[in-house]
Amino acid sequence: MSNLITRAIEGVTGWVNDRAPALVPMYRKHMSEYYAPKNFNLWYYFGSLALLVLVNQIVTGIFLTMHYKPSAAEAFASVEYIMRDVEWGWLIRYMHSTGASMFFVVVYLHMFRGLIYGSYQKPRELVWILGMLIFLVLMAEAFMGYVLPWGQMSYWGAQVIINLFGAIPVVGTGLTEWIRGDYLVSDATLNRFFALHVIALPLVLLLLVVLHLGALHEVGSNNPDGVEIKKGPKGNRWSPTAPADGIPFHPYYTVKDLFGAGFFLIIFAFIVFFAPTMGGWFLEWDNFVKADPLVTPEHIKPVWYFTPFYAMLRAIPDKLMGVMVMGGAVIILFGLPWLDRSPVKSIRYRPLLHKVLVAIFAVGFVILGWLGAQSGSDTQKLVAQILTAYYFAFFIFMPFWSRMGQFKAVPERVTTHD
Ligand code: HEM
Repeated sequence: MSNLITRAIEGVTGWVNDRAPALVPMYRKHMSEYYAPKNFNLWYYFGSLALLVLVNQIVTGIFLTMHYKPSAAEAFASVEYIMRDVEWGWLIRYMHSTGASMFFVVVYLHMFRGLIYGSYQKPRELVWILGMLIFLVLMAEAFMGYVLPWGQMSYWGAQVIINLFGAIPVVGTGLTEWIRGDYLVSDATLNRFFALHVIALPLVLLLLVVLHLGALHEVGSNNPDGVEIKKGPKGNRWSPTAPADGIPFHPYYTVKDLFGAGFFLIIFAFIVFFAPTMGGWFLEWDNFVKADPLVTPEHIKPVWYFTPFYAMLRAIPDKLMGVMVMGGAVIILFGLPWLDRSPVKSIRYRPLLHKVLVAIFAVGFVILGWLGAQSGSDTQKLVAQILTAYYFAFFIFMPFWSRMGQFKAVPERVTTHD
């Protein structure tokens, strides 16, 4: 029997192979003969988790689209209909809304991993740049998605964010009208945001993810030691020419990533079933009230993943300057591969000074996130100003501080090579 199955499988693969000979080499290059460093740790789960969430968003998004109505008159009611009347609609919607927030949790941790292990340094600059483009598109995707339920925060959030473009001299007003397709946020705005959210941006996102992984697989993965395994000794039990410290991605890391996915899905399910609004952090209370152009919510704020940047915007009294600071905070991240002049990649072998500066940066970013969600008292504004200054100083002075201090000797090989 098993002989028969083996022969059948060989027959089918042989048939496909004759007609598409590039498939098997592609599978080998990216899976069974992609030699990844054997010392990946917890931080290396987040890339595959981002992929998992991306798939979740696309699949649940398709089902939401079957029942959602992209019109200002019907959108809010259609979401209520999905929640109450569509079979399992509540589950699909909460999986999608929780997925949006978890996407950012995973991507922020994925980016932080890059920061602590110097993964953006040569030869992985392009991997980082493509990652940053993904981050930009993801932000646009999330912003437009949040407008679709047409709740109070969808409406007023869109109003505030689109109006920011109005601060740009000369073209500002025209630009805001062009984005909205109207003189105010309206049905036309909702329609175009729907088109961009369900098809245009997901396509771009998918393309960028393919390029991101393609670029990574050309140069090979970094690792927690920041050692280039391709430059080390050759030969392992699978191949005499492969890096000695590399193991085949499949089955070793597919199994590891599956474990990570299982763990992640438990947390994900817990949020979906027990805390889908996450106390107003994932879905804001005001968004359960239908959009009303005549009633401004008391306190307009974006969802948590934008609040660090929103805090920076509000910290600056001048509108144009604020917009520039907020945009600059994202754009400056593109420069990381060239700002970091450290001779050593991983934080493990960097001086204490680097560890302290990175730790303050991370804590400061989280505090900014909290501040961006508050009403903004004078003290809060002052703290936001100090942290914004630190955020920029961290990057602007990086070419200097990243070379300072006593570096530890980097081992020849990754630290787990027995
Ligand atoms: C949809 C979003 C994203 C997906 C699906 C994704 C996927 C992945 C995957 C599967 C890997 C290999 C596994 C791993 O190293 O964890 C990876 C590596 C990497 N990603 Fe992403 N990524 C995303 C966003 C980003 C962003 C926003 C950045 C940074 C701006 C980024 C920077 C990197 C870097 C530098 C590496 C190489 C890490 C190393 O080898 O140490 N990625 N990505």
